[in-house]
Amino acid sequence: MKAVILVGGEGTRLRPLTVNLPKPMLPVVNRPFLEHVIEYLKGQGIGDVILSMGYRSDVIEEYFGDGKRLGVDLRLVVESTPLGTAGGVKNVEQFLDGTFLVLNGDIMTDLDLRAMIAFHRERGSKATISLTPVDDPTAYGLVETDAQGRVQRFIEKPRPEDITTNLINAGTYVLEREVLDLIPSAKYHMFERGVFPDLLSRNHPIYGYRSNSYWIDIGTPAKYLSVNRDILHGRVARLQSELKSYEGIRVGEGADIDPSAVLVGPVILGQRVKVGARARVTGPTVIGDDSVIGPDSVVEESILWSKVRIAGRVQLKGAILGRDTVVEQDSSILGGAIVSDSCSVGKDNKLDRGIRVWPGHSIGPRMISF
Ligand code: GTP
Repeated sequence: MKAVILVGGEGTRLRPLTVNLPKPMLPVVNRPFLEHVIEYLKGQGIGDVILSMGYRSDVIEEYFGDGKRLGVDLRLVVESTPLGTAGGVKNVEQFLDGTFLVLNGDIMTDLDLRAMIAFHRERGSKATISLTPVDDPTAYGLVETDAQGRVQRFIEKPRPEDITTNLINAGTYVLEREVLDLIPSAKYHMFERGVFPDLLSRNHPIYGYRSNSYWIDIGTPAKYLSVNRDILHGRVARLQSELKSYEGIRVGEGADIDPSAVLVGPVILGQRVKVGARARVTGPTVIGDDSVIGPDSVVEESILWSKVRIAGRVQLKGAILGRDTVVEQDSSILGGAIVSDSCSVGKDNKLDRGIRVWPGHSIGPRMISF
């Protein structure tokens, strides 16, 4: 069976991290997020994958090519203007036959696809939507089903009094090819607000497949931090081995850690990372390849991409730092602050309260303090 992964969105909620990298290329435990998704599909027996691309498709294409390195057949299709989730699938119609899968490209899950496909077939469904329970359903589109799983109603962004279920559309679909006939060609069209309600109103059999497996989308900075933390804490079943054999600490090849430095897991250090004298790195933290942590610096609960250079006596807590960013001595970056790629933060700064620094920006010494 073929799978289409939707990776054409602009990822506006993750800006400025997505200015130079599309959302599926953001590193998650030091590998592009999309690589985890493709590995997941492979593990579920799906090796024929179509990427429906748009925004910064060049970055995706350069990294994945034809997919051979990952052991899958990858077909890359680029849309010239955004076509939405359904339009992006219609655009790859010529490569689809029979029943196929569609995945939002920003979801990390342990969902059992084989069981979902079997459920779809047993019920003679035209479209099966994976469902996941959430604590606060008000921000999502809810899917109401009967006891057999047949969809009764879609409820978009419900008011508290309209909440009849906590099950939301989890962004993985099993579809029959006829569903494509309901999608206009070369036009912006969505599954969530277009195709699915349309199928329902025509009384086509459309089902929801409920799963309690791990599920998260990486749509916001908070969730991007969460997915890294969840993997580090072993909450994603198929990635549990990432840290297990290292007692919560994985150190990449060529890393150089001063004997007086302290690492408190769960921590992943990439290749050739340097940690200076008396520095302290406390998990959940991920540090990308070729990054340097200066002496007496403290890094806690943070995500650093590759080639980040942190000088001495710097404090990072709950921060995200992009590739090639430099932080000079005695600065602090705290509380969900994002300093994206190729930035420089001068001495004695304090960046806090979710501040976001856009790529290539320089902050002089003692310029920002809250
Ligand atoms: P935000 O701008 O932050 O909402 O992010 P987004 O643009 O990625 O949108 P959203 O999170 O709703 O998208 C869900 C999935 O669909 C993501 O994997 C997107 O890459 C993908 N997607 C969204 N819009 C399009 C589109 O127009 N074309 C294609 N091919 N994929 C899309």
